[in-house]
Amino acid sequence: MTAIILDGLALSQKIKNELSEKVREYKKKGSCPKLATVLVGNDPASRVYVNLKKKDSEIIGIDYEEYYFEDISEKDLLALIDELNSRKDINGILVQMPLPNHIDSNTILERIDPLKDVDGFSPINVGRILLKLSDLFPCTPKGVVKILDEYKIPIEGSDITIINRSNIIGKPLAAMLINMGATVTVVHSKTKNIKEKTRNADIVIVGVGKVDFLTADMIKEKAVVVDVGITRSEEGIVGDVKFDEVSKKASYITPVPGGVGPMTRAMLLENLILCYQKQKDCAR
Ligand code: GUN
Repeated sequence: MTAIILDGLALSQKIKNELSEKVREYKKKGSCPKLATVLVGNDPASRVYVNLKKKDSEIIGIDYEEYYFEDISEKDLLALIDELNSRKDINGILVQMPLPNHIDSNTILERIDPLKDVDGFSPINVGRILLKLSDLFPCTPKGVVKILDEYKIPIEGSDITIINRSNIIGKPLAAMLINMGATVTVVHSKTKNIKEKTRNADIVIVGVGKVDFLTADMIKEKAVVVDVGITRSEEGIVGDVKFDEVSKKASYITPVPGGVGPMTRAMLLENLILCYQKQKDCAR
């Protein structure tokens, strides 16, 4: 059999259309959500990501303000965050990661007003996710859950193995899925026998940045496979899954590109609108 493609690109377009409509309504009433991005340093991939965020903002019609520094001290960056926190016209603040070594990412993330934390990375928001108190989720985990939901793939009662333990993906995703009633196993580079843990899973979510990492022998028949991997190659972006063979054994599979990537981008926009609405509610 051949797996059904989980079409993240199509779903992301649908979500962006709905968000554009919301933005049009806000504008009719005289206001517009605004995203501020902050980029430090010369990492080419980070530059690409920030440019995509600008393009997406333009597409759905939100306002956008970009800050770029070849270099900046931690103190000055904190002062910028304070300024953006205090500005009423800024609804979301995104500091692109990774930051240069002389800046402590946690110190920066901790400073962002949790109500403007469109990434869902601040310690307050991460803690609230763990306790099932938040609806502001980091973009990639949120995109993964949304795409599973769209295709009615059951999460409650499922065995899910995540191959990623990062603060951005694996840890929040595990918390979200546990809160939804899944039995979650998180594996990583120090795990003794990864295959043992993936072969039992109803859903395997992989994000390790290694081409062809997940092979057909690592999954069970009819498993659902979600590829969060991104590797830039001569042929473009490639994921972690050996697609040709895994797609013959899985029941559902995300492609790369066109799977989780566009969903992550759409979720940032959705988070911005959520932050905007929360701030409006607070101001009432
Ligand atoms: N670096 C890689 N992914 C992300 C992301 O989703 N948000 C931010 N701020 N930085 C990143």
